[in-house]
Amino acid sequence: MSFYDELKVMYSAEQIRKRIGELGAQITRDYQGKDFTVIAILKGSYIFCSDLVRAIDLPLAVDFLGLSSYGGKTETTGVVRITSDLSKPIEGKHALVVEDIVDTGLTMAFLLENLKTRQPASVKICALLEKPQRALRKIDIDYKGFVIPDEFVVGYGLDFDERYRNVPFIGVLSKK
Ligand code: IMP
Ligand code: MG
Repeated sequence: MSFYDELKVMYSAEQIRKRIGELGAQITRDYQGKDFTVIAILKGSYIFCSDLVRAIDLPLAVDFLGLSSYGGKTETTGVVRITSDLSKPIEGKHALVVEDIVDTGLTMAFLLENLKTRQPASVKICALLEKPQRALRKIDIDYKGFVIPDEFVVGYGLDFDERYRNVPFIGVLSKK
């Protein structure tokens, strides 16, 4: 018995591990010889990012950026606030943004606009999940884990009202 028994598994820990291995190999090929910084977007991507960087066979820097969107428990409003900024400038560096999920795309659109003002050499996006049915802004995701239907998912870093982040798989939370 676990506290998350009511969740329906969408991607198991093993499926996630395998996909991250593929993403890591792809990133390793693309970033050869580049001075790059992986930017983990908190809190949602902390688990994904920690596994992803270990699947990348290159020297890299890791930094964190905390974002919080005002809104309800399962909806974004597009009003985004930086709760904790990067520890170092990214000017002249290649930035790889690591996000848990691109849903409406409003958070990522805000973030990209903000990062570009800091004059990085390049900005690419790696997102574990994409929910294209809900897209309000077109976001080109360079490295994508899985494309999912319009369902609210939790686990592997993703939360519902700050709960379920520590669930080892991605599961669907039934609307009760
Ligand atoms: P967007 O601005 O609508 O793209 O939403 C992005 C943020 O909303 C993500 O970084 C998540 O924190 C949160 N989010 C969107 N969909 C889900 C979901 O299905 N489960 C948990 N969090 C979600
Ligand atoms: Mg998030």
